[in-house]
Amino acid sequence: MERIAVCPGSFDPVTLGHIDIITRAAALFDRVIVLVSKNVDKHPVFTAEERVGLIKKALPGIKNVAVESFDGLLADYVREKKACAIVKGIRAMTDFENEFQMALVNRKLYGEAETVFLVARSENMYLSSSVVRQIASFGGDIESFVPKEIAGIITERLYKNQEAEK
Ligand code: PNS
Repeated sequence: MERIAVCPGSFDPVTLGHIDIITRAAALFDRVIVLVSKNVDKHPVFTAEERVGLIKKALPGIKNVAVESFDGLLADYVREKKACAIVKGIRAMTDFENEFQMALVNRKLYGEAETVFLVARSENMYLSSSVVRQIASFGGDIESFVPKEIAGIITERLYKNQEAEK
């Protein structure tokens, strides 16, 4: 049976750290679904459609990866897709606490899937979507933080629009 993993997140926007985790997950599973999901504690700057579009543009043509968005419970999506794993990237202990709790809740809601944590590469430890948003909104260079295919689009959206509003 095909082994499907779901890689959920806000991806607001996707970073090189996310791309690394997705690429490594694609090497471990038959199929990976990158799922733009709703985090009730966050107010995304990019719409779900935009975030899906950015991830699609940023992925280096990996054949077994699909990108989708879903507004409901992750556990319901995982059950519906008959996925065997939820893959998350971990940068530091601060990530772990929250991720550990989510993994336990997801197991309670749907016990058939395992949460798998991939440790971020050391060069990506400091990287986050919020760092990218901050730098881009001040017109800084984000090319070493996000795939080059989308750096311009992000800056355009976060900086140039803001400048136009002044
Ligand atoms: O990138 P993020 O914001 O850390 O990702 C968190 C996310 C979106 C994966 C999480 O909030 C989530 O799974 N949302 C979907 C709704 C859900 O299932 N919530 C219960 C998780 S305990």
